[in-house]
Amino acid sequence: MSFARISGTGGYLPENIMTNQDLEKLVDTSDQWIRERTGIKQRHIASKDETTVDLAEKASRLAIESAGIDPSEIDLIVLATSTPDKIFPSSACILQARLDIHGCPAFDIQAVCTGFVYALTVAEKFIQTGSAKKALVVGAEVFSRILNWKDRTTCVLFGDGAGAVILEASEETGILSTHIHADGKYENLLWVPHGISDGFDQVKEGKAYVEMRGNEVFKMAVNTLGRIVDETLAANHLKKADIDWLVPHQANIRIIKATAKKLKMPMEQVVVTVDKHGNTSAASVPLALDVAVRDGRIKRGELVMLEAFGGGFTWGSVLLRY
Ligand code: UT7
Repeated sequence: MSFARISGTGGYLPENIMTNQDLEKLVDTSDQWIRERTGIKQRHIASKDETTVDLAEKASRLAIESAGIDPSEIDLIVLATSTPDKIFPSSACILQARLDIHGCPAFDIQAVCTGFVYALTVAEKFIQTGSAKKALVVGAEVFSRILNWKDRTTCVLFGDGAGAVILEASEETGILSTHIHADGKYENLLWVPHGISDGFDQVKEGKAYVEMRGNEVFKMAVNTLGRIVDETLAANHLKKADIDWLVPHQANIRIIKATAKKLKMPMEQVVVTVDKHGNTSAASVPLALDVAVRDGRIKRGELVMLEAFGGGFTWGSVLLRY
C-alpha cells in the first residue's frame, strides 16, 4: 500500500484588500477591537465578477506547477467549499473543465471551515486503495458573498481565497493519519439559516447570511481542537515535542494560541496567516500551508499537523510528513 504525499502546493488571494479601517466605515467597530479579539488586520475580498472557481483555478495551477506535473495526469479532483459558483454542476466539475481535464472523478465537499481537512482525508483514501494516483485537493471560498455587511459580529471575521495541493501516491511517507468528526446538534450556533430546499426565497432575496453565536463557538473550538490534538498524537504514538509545525485553521489568533499551548509549542512553530487573510473557511489551511512551504519554513521530511473546526460542527486533523 502506498502513502499519499503532498508533492505541490498553491494559493491565491483576490487583489482587493479590505483593512480594519475600511470596516470602521461600514459598521460600528474598531481596528483595536478586531485586532485584540481576533488577530485580524486585513482580509482579501473577491471582485464582483470573481468566483470561487476563479480563485480555485489560480491556486490549482500553482499547485500543479510546483508539483511539476501535467494537468492531464490528475485522476481525482476534490474541492471543499461552502460557497460554490452554482447549485450544480459542482465547483470541482467546473474547475475540471477549466483545467482541460476529462473523465476523472470530480466532486465537492461541504464541511465549512473543516472542508479541506475532509477533502484531504477523502483523497488520501482514494490513493491508499489504489483508486487514484495524483489528486488535486482544493479549498476555495468567496465567503464575502454570504456575509451580512451590516452585522459587525460576523462581517469583520471572514475573507476570500483558495489553496490547493497535489496529493500523489508515493513510496515515501506522506500522510500518517487523518481524523474527521462532526456533531450536527450544534447547527444553529454557526450557520446560514436558509438554503435550496429550506428557504430558497430568502436566498433569492439576498437574506442568506452567516450567523454565529461567536462566544459559544469559541469555547467549543478551543476544547474540541485540544481533544483532536491528543487524538492525533495518540494514534501515531507520538509526543507533543515530535511535531515540527502546526498549520491550524485561521479563525482567531486566540484559538490558535490555545491549541499551540495544548501542544506546548512555541508560536515560532505555528503558521499564522489570520492577520493577513482573516478566516477564509475551507481555504484557510491550504493557504497557510502554501505560505509556509513557499517561504521555506516547512521543509521536506518535517512533521506537520493540520487542524480545523467549523460549522456543522465539523472538526478534524491530518498528520503528515511533508
Ligand atoms: O471558523 C469557524 C469557527 N469560528 C470561530 O472559531 C469563531 C469563534 N469565535 C470568535 O472568534 C469570537 O467569539 C469572536 C471574535 C467572534 C468574538 O469575540 P468575543 O471575545 O467572543 O466577543 P463577544 O462575542 O463576547 O462580544 C464582546 C462584545 C459584545 O459587546 P457587549 O455585549 O459586551 O457590550 C459585542 O457586541 O464585543 C461586541 N462586538 C464588537 N465590538 C466591536 C462584537 N463584534 C464586534 C465588533 N466590533 N466587530
